[in-house]
Amino acid sequence: MTDLILPGLIDVHTHLRVPGGAHKEDFATGTAAALAGGITLLLAMPNTSPPLTTPAALAAARAAAAADARCDVGLFAGAAPADIDQLPALAPDAAALKIYLNDTFGRLRVDDLPTLVACFQTWPREKLIALHAEKQSVAVAIGLAAIYDRAVHICHVSRREEIELIADAKGRGLLVTCEVTPHHLFLSQADAARLGPLGDMRPVLGAADDVAALWAHLNDTVDCIATDHAPHTLEEKRSDAPPPGVPGLETSLPLMLAAVEDGRLSVERLTALMHDNPRRLFGLPQQPDTRVEVDMTPYTIPAGGWQTKCGWTAFAGLRAGGRVRRVVLRGQVVYEDGAVLAAPGSGKVL
Ligand code: NCD
Ligand code: ZN
Repeated sequence: MTDLILPGLIDVHTHLRVPGGAHKEDFATGTAAALAGGITLLLAMPNTSPPLTTPAALAAARAAAAADARCDVGLFAGAAPADIDQLPALAPDAAALKIYLNDTFGRLRVDDLPTLVACFQTWPREKLIALHAEKQSVAVAIGLAAIYDRAVHICHVSRREEIELIADAKGRGLLVTCEVTPHHLFLSQADAARLGPLGDMRPVLGAADDVAALWAHLNDTVDCIATDHAPHTLEEKRSDAPPPGVPGLETSLPLMLAAVEDGRLSVERLTALMHDNPRRLFGLPQQPDTRVEVDMTPYTIPAGGWQTKCGWTAFAGLRAGGRVRRVVLRGQVVYEDGAVLAAPGSGKVL
């Protein structure tokens, strides 16, 4: 039964692991997971091995995406001190630039001011700069938006003081936007204790008060819901040095629909957060004749049965408000009742 029809959803924060991590995910499996979650366009992150900081690495990732992707894919270029002079050459083939100000999975990092300044001086103004910025780094990102009078997008905001600082910056007219992940909305430190390494990601899960602040700002300050789909194998997560990150492409819409069901979120606002704003902020193309058909029968999120190669979820046992029944992309049925019908290579690379 179809209760709700949404536009093809857009995820502006996905890790697909090619090159260098195809045992965790690849373009074929990651975009299958996207379609199962109602996502028809995603932006893939550059913290691969090698990272997407040179034209050669970016071209190789684009070729892999063109061969394997089942939905539309754009790629982030990454900022790295050693490759910073490559930014102008990277820009034409990248959807946006990602700067990592804080530690996370992979080695991609910017912690010197000259590199940061070079990013803001040389990256084309018509393409967005997205930052992994936590705690006081959020103030750094906002300061750069003010100094260079250009837009910055702050990834996966997780703390009360961060979302309140962003709200103040927006109130002053600064060109700052932000995204929040479903895991920071639906899980907290109590779940981190229960889940162990399966509940570890960057930023880490917040306190109940942080979660409340994110919900309180969902209708005014938050611009996008982004998955930060960060697949790692169960073996890696259970090892002595578990990498941070959780998968999220297939559970993002079902979780957000639970908020619609209990009256915390309107369908209009969900559509703004998961389609309209991502498309506008990142200047992404329209996908004609594209829609997601949803069955709004609530259910409990299962432990398995996923399209993602990593095969697990941190959300098992949580309530979902609806499930994706069918996805139509450019007039073709690409997903229906649990089956991914799109062939690898049928997605477009932006
Ligand atoms: C991400 C990953 O695994 O690539 N991990 C995470 O915990 N979110 C990196 C990131 O987005 O910070
Ligand atoms: Zn990420």
